[in-house]
Amino acid sequence: MKLNPAKRIQGRLTLPGDKSISHRAALIGALASGITTIHNFSSAVDCGSTLSCLQQLGVSVERNGSEVKILGGTKFQKPVATLDCGNSGSTIRILSGVLARQDFSCELAGDSSLNSRPMGRIVKPLELMGATFESTDGKPPLVIHGTSAIRPITYETPIASAQVKSAILFAGLGANGRTQVKESSLSRDHTERLFNGFGVKVITEDDLTVTLDGPAQLLGGDITVPGDASSAAYFVAAAMLLADSELTIDGVGLNPTRAEFLSVLKSWGADISTEGITNERNEPIGSVLVRGGIKSSIASDHRLDRPKIPSVIDELPLLAVVGTQIEGGIEIRDAAELRHKESDRLSSTATNLRLMGADVEEHPDGLTVNGPTQLRGANLDSFGDHRIAMAFTVAALIADGPTTIEGSDCVGISFPEFFELMNAVVER
Ligand code: S3P
Repeated sequence: MKLNPAKRIQGRLTLPGDKSISHRAALIGALASGITTIHNFSSAVDCGSTLSCLQQLGVSVERNGSEVKILGGTKFQKPVATLDCGNSGSTIRILSGVLARQDFSCELAGDSSLNSRPMGRIVKPLELMGATFESTDGKPPLVIHGTSAIRPITYETPIASAQVKSAILFAGLGANGRTQVKESSLSRDHTERLFNGFGVKVITEDDLTVTLDGPAQLLGGDITVPGDASSAAYFVAAAMLLADSELTIDGVGLNPTRAEFLSVLKSWGADISTEGITNERNEPIGSVLVRGGIKSSIASDHRLDRPKIPSVIDELPLLAVVGTQIEGGIEIRDAAELRHKESDRLSSTATNLRLMGADVEEHPDGLTVNGPTQLRGANLDSFGDHRIAMAFTVAALIADGPTTIEGSDCVGISFPEFFELMNAVVER
């Protein structure tokens, strides 16, 4: 993809449904009693992987564009082939929690990126709950030997991860007794909110212990998925970085464990406001308004570290791009987890930023990005990673001269409409 610099962003948008909420709504629909209708289901290829795995498990799933109808409560069937999770970490990890409590064995695998990502983090707690696993050095393909006699556990996650927390909670639905998961920093809490929204009580204490009493039955129903906050982030950042921009995004998910990037950008001098906040199955939704330009920063420092990292985890490559335009630059720490995403995002981000002329230092657990620097157009690689392709599209819009991004088609993993919608609001 060849990208030219832009003058400003102007317009009003709504975005496809949130990827994390869509995965969970589909799994909830499959387990819940009755019919679940999901409106504004994500168009992401990843969420399609979750639906096709459910179909392989014998669940009745009808998809009509962004509307998905799932007939829940039927017994899962042992799949005849390996469950194909594609590029989707959420599919393989959260679905493993569901499969850990089925009375059959099955295999899950994905593409080469997914097959190189660590699964030990779900294998360990799910084995403590009674399932057994086979893997290659803790990586997929993953064979799960499920058990209908799944046991409750109390488990402290070594790394804050919503996928791990969710796998345990989905398994805990079938366990006889109290399942508790404790994390050191709060990761996205969609599973907790949606379980409560679909009839299963989940309590989160101030010390971040999440408690669920099983066995518990979800109750099916309707849900309209909020617009994807992580997809919105690219448009918000582009509007911030291009002076004279004026952008409104309606119907965006504003769950605090996802919308933290808005506060971060505001603290670095962005003019962002939110309005018209409503609720859908405990998930807040509202409009985001951005006016272009960077005012003086109100942050005492420009350091992102624990405990904020989990709530901006998918926005960090983009925040590093924004960091090149911030007086005094920014620093990201305690984010070694980024090395285990769809690509090694610390390395991919540093490589591309340097090619654009930025001054970046890479640490084992983060990045120091100096700023402000005028970025220059360059030939970049997406590293097959959708979030790298989208973060560097934003960088290309503020660069001097044209930029190419190799393999930018991978945006479809989370946001197939990305380039079309960006073109609709960019003025050159
Ligand atoms: C996700 C959780 C995050 C995030 C991923 C989606 C989820 O991973 O990076 O894109 O839907 O639970 P971890 O919480 O495992 O870091």
